[in-house]
Amino acid sequence: MFLCGMILVPRPPAWAEHPCAKCHPKEVAGYAVTQMARALGPPKARPPGKFFHALSGTRFSIQSTPARMVQRIERRGAMGEYTVAYALGSGSHAYAYLIELDGHLFQSPIGYFAGRGWGMSPGYESNRSPDFYRPVTRDCLFCHSGSARPVEGTFNTYQNPPFEAEGITCERCHGPSEAHLQNPVPGSIINPANLPERARASVCEQCHLAGEERIPNPGKQLSDFRSGMELEDVYAVYVSKVSRDPEGVNPLRVVSQVEQLALSHCARESRGKLWCGTCHDPHVQPANPKTYFRARCLSCHGAALLAKHSKPDFDCLGCHMPQRPVSDGAHTVFTDHRIARRPAPASASVSSVELPTELVAWREPAGALAERNRGLAEIKVGDRLESFSMVNDGFKRLMACWDKFPDDPAVLMGIGKGFLVANDGAHAAQVFELAIQKQPNVALGYLYAGLAWRSAHDETKAVGYLERAVALDPQMEQPYHVLLDIYSEAGNREMVRRTFERYHQAFPNKIDAQIGLRETKGGL
Ligand code: HEC
Ligand code: HEC
Ligand code: HEC
Ligand code: HEC
Ligand code: HEC
Ligand code: HEC
Ligand code: HEC
Repeated sequence: MFLCGMILVPRPPAWAEHPCAKCHPKEVAGYAVTQMARALGPPKARPPGKFFHALSGTRFSIQSTPARMVQRIERRGAMGEYTVAYALGSGSHAYAYLIELDGHLFQSPIGYFAGRGWGMSPGYESNRSPDFYRPVTRDCLFCHSGSARPVEGTFNTYQNPPFEAEGITCERCHGPSEAHLQNPVPGSIINPANLPERARASVCEQCHLAGEERIPNPGKQLSDFRSGMELEDVYAVYVSKVSRDPEGVNPLRVVSQVEQLALSHCARESRGKLWCGTCHDPHVQPANPKTYFRARCLSCHGAALLAKHSKPDFDCLGCHMPQRPVSDGAHTVFTDHRIARRPAPASASVSSVELPTELVAWREPAGALAERNRGLAEIKVGDRLESFSMVNDGFKRLMACWDKFPDDPAVLMGIGKGFLVANDGAHAAQVFELAIQKQPNVALGYLYAGLAWRSAHDETKAVGYLERAVALDPQMEQPYHVLLDIYSEAGNREMVRRTFERYHQAFPNKIDAQIGLRETKGGL
């Protein structure tokens, strides 16, 4: 098997046949050409390309026709070739590419950038052995597709086809449409502009507020959010505390318009009047942005301002909302939503990226959820940033509210990770075992129990759990790596070889699996 599984995906009907088009042709035609409507789909033909990633000694090449895009990776005499299943992104800044393997979605290390062509996808530049296997989770697709169809309890496994809708649908902002289609009158469907303030903001925040981490309430997934709810009914978003300081540096990031706008005087002093929809109509692509947005500014600032404002005063955006580079987006520029009197120099926006040291809720969730969700966020972010103190803060918070959430698998996993980071493998393992009892089909629980027993120096138990993880989800990579470490340390060459065999079977195109198998067969 050389080509990654081709999937036959029923493509959505043409926009003219869209169920809303008969009565709202203007909104449908206007929305169809937006970036959101084109956020995900089959890959479009791009010029062929090839490039070399020096750090890892990897050669990448791309062949692309209207029918098919094939990406190839070569390193140390091994080669892998993939047919791209989906392009993620409208391409206005960049495309990411997704491949499919046995029902799993993974992200390609190759990206295509507007004005710059082929290159490493953000996050892969410093990778020493890049490959096609960054799992594409439901949380990523929650923002980038109309609706995905994940298999419950898995990390990146999807039903066939993986999407109910590829591009972002009307329903993501207008809520369920059945009632309206049966009885098409005002009030039978949500109009975001008429929602109470917090619910109104939540419509756009579900995708435009990434924060450092988003934590679902017990028993919820991000995808349980429906337009009309408040975000905190389903999940809480945690941001870096310094990012809320209007006097702070706040480097722009790809997804930070919500945070930036909240810092503006316009938002802070207009008593809830200003929201995303004041300036953006999702069914209208302004033909002339300068004129279009100027009218939006003047809807509040009015003629009185123009009478006293220094001239020239036409291009409000050029002076108050300049385009500038972002700190995380591979040389792309975005619009500064802080609407400052005198915007800071562009250089300040990229150079000083500060890692968060303290997290705060964007909006606090109700009651005891505040501690639970913040604790979980601290453990996740702390783990990612390798900040022991942040993990420890989260751990203490979870221990203090555990009695309120005794059966909550997320809390158990969080506490287990806290113990693990503190090198208390035995306690970690006990807690992960409790989590497994609650969710016996979730492979991640077994992986962590394996890591915990390894940390407690019980290799036999570790192997048992890691094997269960592999059995539950053969396309989860980390258990193979831990098993390989355990077997190599024990000098068990036979098991190293057999593990590489299974790893290679699960990922036949993966470079490291091919090389590992070759070397163990040749005899180390
Ligand atoms: C059979 C005709 C018909 C179809 C089909 C239809 N609508 Fe409507 N819609 C109406 C009418 C009539 C109104 C009320 C008058 C108006 O605002 O144009 C309305 C109003 C709305 C409103 C404003 C509601 C309010 O309370 O302010 C929204 C939003 C809307 N429709 C969205 C949709 C979406 C999304 C679809 C497709 C899923 C859709 N409509 C399909 C006829 C239709
Ligand atoms: C389901 C997720 C989702 C929701 C809900 C959402 N957006 Fe977006 N939005 C995106 C994504 C993803 C992009 C980038 C698409 C791309 O270029 O691939 C985007 C792009 C945009 C853009 C860039 C211009 C364009 O043509 O699309 C604007 C402006 C925007 N969104 C405004 C809004 C506003 C205002 C709301 C709320 C009323 C909103 N979005 C709700 C996901 C979403
Ligand atoms: C919280 C929601 C959210 C998550 C999670 C998220 N993104 Fe995005 N992403 C966005 C939004 C919104 C934009 C548009 C930003 C803008 O135009 O300012 C965007 C932009 C992009 C773009 C550029 C598209 C273009 O041409 O404008 C790519 C590529 C991308 N994201 C890839 C990913 C991948 C891959 C993941 C998951 C591994 C991911 N993103 C996770 C919301 C999200
Ligand atoms: C990204 C969010 C978003 C998406 C996606 C979206 N809309 Fe809207 N829609 C809005 C907002 C916000 C308003 C309120 C605009 C206003 O009055 O300021 C609105 C208003 C409307 C209205 C009422 C217009 C009026 O005159 O009052 C209709 C009809 C409508 N949308 C139809 C659609 C249809 C059909 C689709 C899908 C093809 C769609 N919308 C997709 C956000 C969205
Ligand atoms: C919903 C109403 C509203 C809209 C729309 C709006 N503003 Fe404001 N803006 C305000 C309010 C309120 C203030 C604070 C009082 C003041 O300075 O007038 C403000 C303040 C400002 C300031 C002073 C900031 C400072 O640091 O002192 C600037 C500059 C500004 N706005 C520019 C703009 C521009 C440019 C636009 C359009 C892109 C815009 N505003 C759109 C309401 C709005
Ligand atoms: C005061 C007006 C104003 C408000 C309010 C506003 N935007 Fe924007 N936004 C703009 C302007 C102006 C642009 C640049 C448009 C252009 O150049 O075509 C822009 C661009 C964008 C883009 C395209 C990527 C980029 O950064 O250039 C996205 C996405 C976006 N806005 C999302 C949002 C979201 C989400 C909100 C609400 C939190 C919001 N905007 C509120 C004025 C506004
Ligand atoms: C050539 C650059 C430039 C353009 C174009 C421009 N501004 Fe300004 N604006 C400024 C500067 C600089 C200040 C600060 C003046 C000061 O601090 O004395 C300012 C101040 C303001 C203020 C605060 C006024 C106050 O009294 O506090 C607002 C509001 C504002 N601008 C809105 C706008 C709007 C709306 C537009 C478009 C119609 C616009 N500006 C176009 C440069 C510009």
